[in-house]
Amino acid sequence: MPLWTGRFQKELSKTTNDFNSSIGFDSRMYREDIEGSMAHAKMLGQCGIITQSEADEIIRGLSFILTKIEEGKLPIDMEAEDIHTFIEGELTKLLGDTGKKLHTARSRNDQVALDVRLYLIKRTAELVERLKDLVRVLCGIAKEHTKTVMPGYTHLQRAQPITFAHHLMAYAQMFIRDMARLEDAKRRTEVNPLGSCALAGTTFPIDRDITTRELDLAYWSRNSLDGVSDRDFCIELASALSIIMVHLSRFSEEIILWCSWEFKFVELDDAFSTGSSIMPQKKNPDIAELVRGKSGRVFGDLQTLLTVMKGLPLAYNKDMQEDKEAIFDAFDTVKMCLTAFTPMIETMTVLPQNMRAAAAKGFINATDCADYLVGKGLPFRDAYKATGMIVARCIGLGKTLETLELSEYKAICSLFENDVYAAIELEKCAFARNSQGGPAPENVSEEIRRIISMIGDGENG
Ligand code: ARG
Repeated sequence: MPLWTGRFQKELSKTTNDFNSSIGFDSRMYREDIEGSMAHAKMLGQCGIITQSEADEIIRGLSFILTKIEEGKLPIDMEAEDIHTFIEGELTKLLGDTGKKLHTARSRNDQVALDVRLYLIKRTAELVERLKDLVRVLCGIAKEHTKTVMPGYTHLQRAQPITFAHHLMAYAQMFIRDMARLEDAKRRTEVNPLGSCALAGTTFPIDRDITTRELDLAYWSRNSLDGVSDRDFCIELASALSIIMVHLSRFSEEIILWCSWEFKFVELDDAFSTGSSIMPQKKNPDIAELVRGKSGRVFGDLQTLLTVMKGLPLAYNKDMQEDKEAIFDAFDTVKMCLTAFTPMIETMTVLPQNMRAAAAKGFINATDCADYLVGKGLPFRDAYKATGMIVARCIGLGKTLETLELSEYKAICSLFENDVYAAIELEKCAFARNSQGGPAPENVSEEIRRIISMIGDGENG
């Protein structure tokens, strides 16, 4: 039986009921729905809107229902309109008239807004922990590679020497910003809409401080219309999740490049690679490719939320039922991606010799060669030009900066001396870049320490 019997003479047709129903995707919030109802019942009792013993009976009934659901002894009825209707229905089956009093001074509009918030607060906290795990893994690998020279790229062209640790720690910075974004959006999710009722509050003497405290939320929403209409928190979270996917996708793209034969900077563990059905030699980075591909889903979820909300007049509209599949899918997808991605990174084999070999080609020490001339007193622009001529000479002779004879150097600029070879040595070039935030090993080690002291080493929970 639907909740609105009284006004209606006919029941919904089966197809309309199926179309209207959200239980297929909102039943995952059963726990939050029950927690919210318990807080509401407690408040109703304390404010004398129902008797104390009725409130106690409702809370006991709800707790019984929760246990039954968790033990798998109370299957969720997929014919119910939504999780709120189902639980209220079960409570009424259990308690009769007392159960029917729970919905006093409440509407499903404030109820659903609360449930989604409570559910997403937990999911956000969980994702922050998973991001921390990933950052710890990055720090762990980076620690071993503060002196592993690799080419840094711009335009995917070898540009200047860096270290593998420096490259990994660039991603650590992105994931730390992601955590901060999630925490920030979480603060605006920790708001209590309960007591907004359908849209206009209530004449019952409710006390929203009680439910806010009871649910461990920060404050109650300041306007009853906004309380039931606001889905900004879903959009903000979906946007933070989309940015995480941008980062995971860029990282995946690099992993995919790095395990190609053209690079071979890393080799993925067999457990995180797949073979080909026809080409026996193949080892494919499917996990990284899937993560890259799944970014599209999460961006789509954000787009869904923005589009669902953009034309809605205040206050609640049924369109808003569409918020849940989108935001839940975004959370599920990011969690799934992190669950596969972190151990894939943790178990990959790093191949420093190949990184070093790639760094040795492509004149990535040309800037250092120019800087050498600057050290000898030449203005940078002139040094830049002379070095460009040297690179052209090397290309003509099939040589590198390291193997070009001093006489060739001197023919282009008389300031060159034998010490140029030491100045352009790759390790020296990478390690000496000790400007703040640069790749010098002591900088990167210090940053790893700073990050670990910020997020913890994961040993104590
Ligand atoms: N299942 C609904 C949703 O997810 C719950 C709120 C229903 N409110 C209403 N007035 N029909 O949005």
